[in-house]
Amino acid sequence: MARKPIIAGNWKMNMTNEQAKVLIEGLKPLVKDAKKTEVVICVPYTDIATAVSLCAGSNIKVGAENVAWAEKGAFTGEISADMLLELGTEYVIIGHSERRQYFGETDSSVNARLKTAVAKGLKPIVCVGETLEQREKNRTKSVIRKQVTVGLADLSEEDILNTVIAYEPVWAIGTGKTATSEQAEETIRFIRGVIAKMYTRKIANKVRIQYGGSMNPKNVKELMAMPNIDGGLIGGASLKAEDFSLVVNFDK
Ligand code: PGA
Repeated sequence: MARKPIIAGNWKMNMTNEQAKVLIEGLKPLVKDAKKTEVVICVPYTDIATAVSLCAGSNIKVGAENVAWAEKGAFTGEISADMLLELGTEYVIIGHSERRQYFGETDSSVNARLKTAVAKGLKPIVCVGETLEQREKNRTKSVIRKQVTVGLADLSEEDILNTVIAYEPVWAIGTGKTATSEQAEETIRFIRGVIAKMYTRKIANKVRIQYGGSMNPKNVKELMAMPNIDGGLIGGASLKAEDFSLVVNFDK
């Protein structure tokens, strides 16, 4: 079966509740005809309840931007899977490069969060990607191999099939510098190969792998034309209804 494309917005630390309402109301009619693409918005915790209630009955699914590995307890500032699920959250981003860069997230903490997410029934979007320095030193593949083998370790076949991977070269995030479609395709094909070694080729061929990093209405078509690219994780361009809808409707 063909992999269904998934376009997910990552709002990061943007959008107060009032701003979120305006954005979602603007977005709904613009993406309502996207039947062949899964549409997700990953929003700040404080916007989740609003987003879930406004998106009810629409084709937009709601995700969070992180989840705690622990079930509950003394973890000041963290948000648990149960808290997210109770609000109607379906997806969750794990291991975004900004979490790794500013908040000490590691492949092991990514793995711990991921295991909790899948055990609880949240659908994870796990981010991997190399920095500019790593790319220039020809370390892209070794860095990504480790991020994937350690970050996604010990998942059952069923759980890996429910996991979305986002390849986001750190140098392309928020910089306006997109990886070329060939660069993105090459690394994503490599990630699929790593998954094939961890599981089987058949399973690897079913796992959805997105590209992320300055994906926008202008470059989405070319990126999505690549055989291994199954969607996008969209930061900047997800903050404007028109731009995000153009990315979602890349096939129109
Ligand atoms: P960007 O962010 O589209 O603004 O580059 C993507 C991301 O960080 O997920």
